[in-house]
Amino acid sequence: MLNIIMCGAPGSGKGTQSDRIVEKYQLTHLSTGDLLRKEIASGSEIGSQLNAIVSRGDLVPDEIIIDMLASHIDALGANCKGVIFDGFPRNVAQAEALEKMLAERGLSTSVLLDMQVEQDELIARLLNRGKLSGRSDDNMETIQQRLLVYEQKTKPVSDFYNSLGKYQAINGMGTMDEIFARIDEVLKAF
Ligand code: AP5
Ligand code: MG
Repeated sequence: MLNIIMCGAPGSGKGTQSDRIVEKYQLTHLSTGDLLRKEIASGSEIGSQLNAIVSRGDLVPDEIIIDMLASHIDALGANCKGVIFDGFPRNVAQAEALEKMLAERGLSTSVLLDMQVEQDELIARLLNRGKLSGRSDDNMETIQQRLLVYEQKTKPVSDFYNSLGKYQAINGMGTMDEIFARIDEVLKAF
């Protein structure tokens, strides 16, 4: 199985490029952000607690995320060609939990793609999306907090995978097609 981690700051194109990878490589896309937004939209009790955290730009507790992910991994069919983990793991504890979860099922991560985009561009993309998306976290105050959380908690995930020899930086500046071509070049090797 080709199991890819899409890592990068908010607005770095994780979702956009995951969709393209899915189309070409027929992988299963697991976006923890999308799963959380679905729970929030359901109007459940837990959803409203999650909404408060997401709207502040903070991370949802690891146990909730890890349980959510485990149930989706267990639901993968026998024909699954691989998974794109989009927005997960978000800190080193989640990375360790993911590796344990995969190893227990005889699986492993193939590579972490680190989408590198300049900060001004990230903010411009998110504010632009915020005009239409309705996402409660696409406003300037929450964007600043999401960027801070990314610097403090998520960046060390790249070091973790680098130490496993599974790290690949991707230049995330340019057009969507140019960026996909860079990713495709890396994935061809697997
Ligand atoms: P999540 O949904 O993961 O959001 P994020 O990481 O903040 O990233 P985004 O989804 O905003 O951006 P993206 O990198 O996917 O970029 P996109 O392709 O959309 O998480 C949201 C929240 O949920 C977190 O803050 C946290 O509270 C919680 N959460 C999620 N996972 C968690 C976890 N594991 N643990 C704990 N909490 C968790 O692109 C952005 C925009 O730019 C789009 O409009 C797109 O069209 C545009 N764009 C993309 N590429 C280009 C390009 N090349 N040129 C111009 N525009 C472009
Ligand atoms: Mg996304």
